[in-house]
Amino acid sequence: MNNWIQLNGIHSSLVLGSPDGGVPQILYWGARLATDTDLPGLAQLASKPGPSGFLDKIPPLSVLPELGRGFHGEAGLLGHSAGARWGGQLKCIQVERIDTQQIRFECCDQLAGLSVQFFISLDAGSDVIGLRANIVNQAGAPFNLDHLGLSIPLPAQADQLISFHGRWIQEFLTQRFSWPMHKVVRENHRGKTSHDSFPAFIAGQVGFNENQGDVWGLHLAYSGNHKLVAEKLLDGARHVQLGEWLYPGEMILSQGESYQTPQIYGTWSGQGLNGLSQNFHGFLRQNILALNVLEKPRPVHLNTWEAFYMDHQPEKLLQLVTAAAEVGVERFILDDGWFGKRDDDYAGLGDWFIDESKHPGGLGYLIDAVKAQGMEFGLWFEPEMVNPDSDLFRNHPDWILQIEGYEQQLGRHQYVLNLSNPDVFAYLFERLDWFLSHYDIAYIKWDMNRDLVQPGNKGIASVHQQTQAFYLLLAKLRKAHPQVEIETCSSGGGRIDFEVLRHTQRIWVSDCIDARERQRIQYGYSLLLPPEIMGSHISDNPSHTTGRSHQLGYRLITAMFGHMGLEMNVSKFNEAEKQEVASAVALYKKYRQLLHSGNGYRLDSDDKALQGYGVVSVDKGEALFSATTLSLPEQMLLPPLRLAGLNPDQNYRLTFWIPKGALGPHGSQSNLVVNNGGIFSGELLQRAGIQLPVMNPDSAILLMLQGL
Ligand code: GLA
Repeated sequence: MNNWIQLNGIHSSLVLGSPDGGVPQILYWGARLATDTDLPGLAQLASKPGPSGFLDKIPPLSVLPELGRGFHGEAGLLGHSAGARWGGQLKCIQVERIDTQQIRFECCDQLAGLSVQFFISLDAGSDVIGLRANIVNQAGAPFNLDHLGLSIPLPAQADQLISFHGRWIQEFLTQRFSWPMHKVVRENHRGKTSHDSFPAFIAGQVGFNENQGDVWGLHLAYSGNHKLVAEKLLDGARHVQLGEWLYPGEMILSQGESYQTPQIYGTWSGQGLNGLSQNFHGFLRQNILALNVLEKPRPVHLNTWEAFYMDHQPEKLLQLVTAAAEVGVERFILDDGWFGKRDDDYAGLGDWFIDESKHPGGLGYLIDAVKAQGMEFGLWFEPEMVNPDSDLFRNHPDWILQIEGYEQQLGRHQYVLNLSNPDVFAYLFERLDWFLSHYDIAYIKWDMNRDLVQPGNKGIASVHQQTQAFYLLLAKLRKAHPQVEIETCSSGGGRIDFEVLRHTQRIWVSDCIDARERQRIQYGYSLLLPPEIMGSHISDNPSHTTGRSHQLGYRLITAMFGHMGLEMNVSKFNEAEKQEVASAVALYKKYRQLLHSGNGYRLDSDDKALQGYGVVSVDKGEALFSATTLSLPEQMLLPPLRLAGLNPDQNYRLTFWIPKGALGPHGSQSNLVVNNGGIFSGELLQRAGIQLPVMNPDSAILLMLQGL
């Protein structure tokens, strides 16, 4: 079966096949090749010698590298049946072209009694590849599947890696390093996507930056455990392997049973990280998110958490509703504290019944007030959790994930409910459905505030089942209430991935809304994920998670490059302060459609004190950029800000929006700033850049561009 197949996107090509009659191999993934490319020639160019000191023939680096073929690197398939059937020598028995962009390979290992189907695609519109597999145990004896990870080979020039790390209130941090010998492993056993290991790697040629260079990005779309490996093999070949991390005994397949891997997404761009991000954003917009941001602009939120925490008092809430409407809020969200006996985080989770001592007669009074002000109403839930101090736990202590007989650590004083128990699933669906049916609720903030430990279901590890049941619960709820938007939150950004986005429409990226920290978090976030689903709220002063204070202008500019909201008690503000917040909200509203439908550009900066980011409309006729100072520059002036994404041949009117407190206190301003910009060509704005004024550290200004 030496027939190579070429899939083409707009800018990229993927060439794959089964040259040795085994598991499919990716021969090429990169810049688009001519449609009549000599594929056998390409294969010939890649044919490997057999160096001495090695096996006679170098084992294939297929999408599922097999121990049974002598692969000595990170094997894709690990498993056995009572100690036997562990090697794997799959033969390709069928190749089906599902359509022009998708191929299905069917492989079978008769000795091991296993069959595996591989689905590989390239989305023509976005240049995003997709890869997943499905394994079936065809033999009589159970097959113990320990691991199924899929490998994507990358070329030798991809010698630098970006990986993600982080923690609570510091999500999406990145580190960039030379691809080391051997391997880099990112494993996550937390039972959710995790704060500390967002499942993606980016590889690129040495020296790539935001706008230049070949880069490849790979993401595992999954909200459970994962294992990602970037490995350099002894022969110099390299691959990134992505898959679900399984507990011992978690996946035992009886005869006829199957396991499906999470979906892997990847993209190549020859235009640096911005090209890569635009591909991923475009793919999500077209294929996963179904948001019509032009028809229904993303509404401005006000969330009550940092305003009141769990101290819900109707009178104060109603005052906040009025004040929120006055400053232009469009969706009012009641956060934690409205149900059970929830006065602190030691009790109440699981009891999804309104606490009438706080909300006499239910939530009707509040929702009516919110609606009367022309706003939508949203409500916080944390469905998967239960506090030991709750009626639910007292009545059903066996409803949690656990290993019976073992003591289990609590996390935020709570246990995790076992969603694959049908009674638990039915209870949660009934409760959520009740609220969505009884009240006019437009949005749910769906939280999940602890890691899974001892995730046993009748003694068997059950993170896989739990994750599938979580998706099912979301899907069932959305089917019953398709108009309700759901936000994925897990102590901030602990559950963010492309799969959860099939069911959710907003992301709470971080509990940290300190503008300075958010700049860093949002940088990492933007690499794969688009702004219109990124919950970003203007924080109160000082910020509740860091104690830092910032000028409103800086907080606004930081928050407005996402789906903006307020996280503050505006009802205690005086008129002047309210006015200031109202004009911040109005400015966001003016630009949100551009911000949510255009192409994002992070700017290469010549000084680490400066961070620049912007959005350019698809027709390049309009753009909005921000220039942010992360610290004082080491030299007297900031370097010029070189814009990106504009039409070099077009003229633009540049104007500044310089909020209070952004400019340094001493010295004079340039003519450019005194004249509030001018008319310049896209070419000059990108090549020469804009000399920025003297700015205070922790401040930001906006640069507006209107094409002429
Ligand atoms: C988590 C969320 C917060 C807030 C609290 C409520 O920490 O990330 O935004 O909703 O729970 O308990």
